[in-house]
This record gives sequence, structure tokens and C-alpha cells, in this order.
Amino acid sequence: MLGRMLLTASRSDRLRDFVATAPVTRPVVDRFVAGEGLPDALAAVRDLTDAGLDVTIDHLGEDITDPAQAEANRDAYLALLAAAAPLGAGPRVEVSVKLSAFGQALGPDGHELALANVRPVCAAAAKAGTTVTLDMEDHTTVDSTLAILDELRKDYPGTGAVLQSYLFRTEEDCRRLAVEGSRVRLVKGAYREPASVAHQDRREVDLAYVRCLKILMAGGGHPMVATHDPRLIAITLDLALRNERVPGSYEFQMLYGIREPEQRRLAEAGEQVRVYVPFGTDWYGYFTRRLAERPANVAFFLRSFLPA
Ligand code: FDA
Repeated sequence: MLGRMLLTASRSDRLRDFVATAPVTRPVVDRFVAGEGLPDALAAVRDLTDAGLDVTIDHLGEDITDPAQAEANRDAYLALLAAAAPLGAGPRVEVSVKLSAFGQALGPDGHELALANVRPVCAAAAKAGTTVTLDMEDHTTVDSTLAILDELRKDYPGTGAVLQSYLFRTEEDCRRLAVEGSRVRLVKGAYREPASVAHQDRREVDLAYVRCLKILMAGGGHPMVATHDPRLIAITLDLALRNERVPGSYEFQMLYGIREPEQRRLAEAGEQVRVYVPFGTDWYGYFTRRLAERPANVAFFLRSFLPA
């Protein structure tokens, strides 16, 4: 219930203004976001890669309202890739993009606009020896995002995409994408979706995740198992054995600031682990989705408004 209210709030401009300007918000946001500027992000990346973890960097932004913002977001990714190149980390440092930040929702031309804006980012990533993964937003964007993925993979075959196990359609999408060279990041799903398209019960979402995982781990692609759920991590390790997959032919992924000891434990056990590192000023939507995932986070956030 609280989670659903927060997901509605994640799209409220009035709440965004209130939360973003409240001075007490910052320390709570810092738990999930690696800072507002590129130097903050690069410092976090350096700490993580030094600790044996791989990263994917997200320049925060979504749901933009005019094409100039889409171009600014594209340019921010180009600057990010140029700045990350001297770290020399190649595929250990990749980037994640939200196509709504590249213009996808801007009317009938949004699809083409997003494709045109993301292409140079894929080209820059390829030049830096790394890849781009397309985040998945609400269910209305899935067809467009997967069509853009198909287009991009013709020139940049390492481009990956997120699939969300809560959507009924996802098993079918997994079957289509479990092929040689493909990179699928499997998540449970973080948006408020109607019962007509998505499982509403957490147990059903988890069972669907396992069905999708089985398809991806048995297929020819590179599964990116993006979850903090200990049961799903254990099931992945079991499926790796059954499918004779070695670490690196699949990878675990977790979000910055969440279950950090587990990120390090898996990496020390020889698993490939990638941390999703978000940075930037437009953190409100990302932050409220993290609150919605866990009631304890909301309590932590609300406590910060109380006098010390
Ligand atoms: P679950 O929510 O059941 O959590 C399992 C355990 O993990 C919890 O018990 C808790 O210990 C810990 N945990 C989880 N979330 C936490 C939080 N916010 N704070 C503190 N602890 C927490 N979604 C989407 O719709 N589109 C996308 O593109 C992406 N991209 C993405 C990339 C990566 C790398 C990850 C890891 C996740 C995403 N997600 C996403 C988010 C995803 O859909 C999902 O909402 C979260 O990962 C939480 O689900 P879990 O699988 O971790 O399970």
C-alpha cells in the first residue's frame, strides 16, 4: 500500500519540489545516489572497481519534456564516457540509460528521437571498449525500448536491455533474447503497473523471476541477474552449475548502497558483480522508487525530518 503510494508520488512535481529542497533529504539520498556531479560518480566508480566490483553508471534523468533536454542528456553521457575512459576499465565500466531521458515519450516522433540520441552514446561506448544497457521503464515503453534495442544491436551487438519479471509478457521476451551475444538484465520491476499487464503479488513476481532466469541461464546470451534477493542469488548459483556456466558468462548486479557486504562477498567468492551507480541532480524518481521497495527506507527517511 505504502509502496504503491510512493510510486504514485514518484511522478508528482509538487512533491518533487518539496523533497528536493528539504535540507534533511541530502544524507538519505546519498545512501542511494553517488552524488550530483561527475567527479562524485567517478570517485565512487574508482572505489568500487578497486574493490573488485564492476559498475554500470546511470546519469539520472527521466520523463523529459522537450527535445533540448534529450540532447543535454545525450551530451552528459558523452562527457561521462570521455571522463571514464582514462580509468581504462573497458567493459568493467559500462553505462545504463533511460530512453525517456532521450526523448522516447515526446509524442509520435519520440521513438525515433530516442534512437537518434542514444546511437552516439552507443558509438562512444564501443570506442571506449564498453557497452550500453537500456533500462526499462513503465510497461507502455517496452515495445519501443525492445525495438530500439534490436536496431542498436545491428551496429552495437553488445547493447543490453532490462526485462522485468512482473510483466506477463517477459517470459516470451526472455525466450526471444536468450541468444548468442545478447545481454539481458533481469529485474523484478519497480513501477506501479496495472493487474492487466503485471503480477501484483510479490510471490508471483518471484516465481516469474525464476522462470525467466531458467530461460536466460539455459540460453546462449549473457544473463545479468539484477537482484538483492538472497533466494534468487542462491537459485542463480545452482542454475549456473546445472548449465555449466562459469562466472563471467553471467553476472550479478545490485544497486549502489544496497546490500554492499553481499556485493563484496560474492565478488570475493569469484563471482562477477556489477554495481549500478546513479549520479546527477535529477534523483527524485530514482530515490522514491528505492523508498517504495522497502518500508524501512521510508522510516529512515521520515526520521531524518525529526529534530536531532
Ligand atoms: P526485493 O525487493 O524482494 O529485495 C530483496 C532484499 O534486498 C530485501 O529484503 C532487502 O534486503 C534488499 N533490498 C531491496 N531493495 C532495497 C532497497 N531499496 N533498500 C534497501 N534494501 C533493499 N527496475 C525497473 O523496473 N527497471 C530497471 O531498469 C531497473 N534496473 C535495475 C538495475 C539493477 C542493477 C538492479 C539491481 C535493479 C534494477 N531495477 C529496475 C529495480 C528492480 O526492479 C527492483 O525494484 C529492485 O531490485 C528490488 O528488487 P529485488 O530483486 O532486490 O528484491
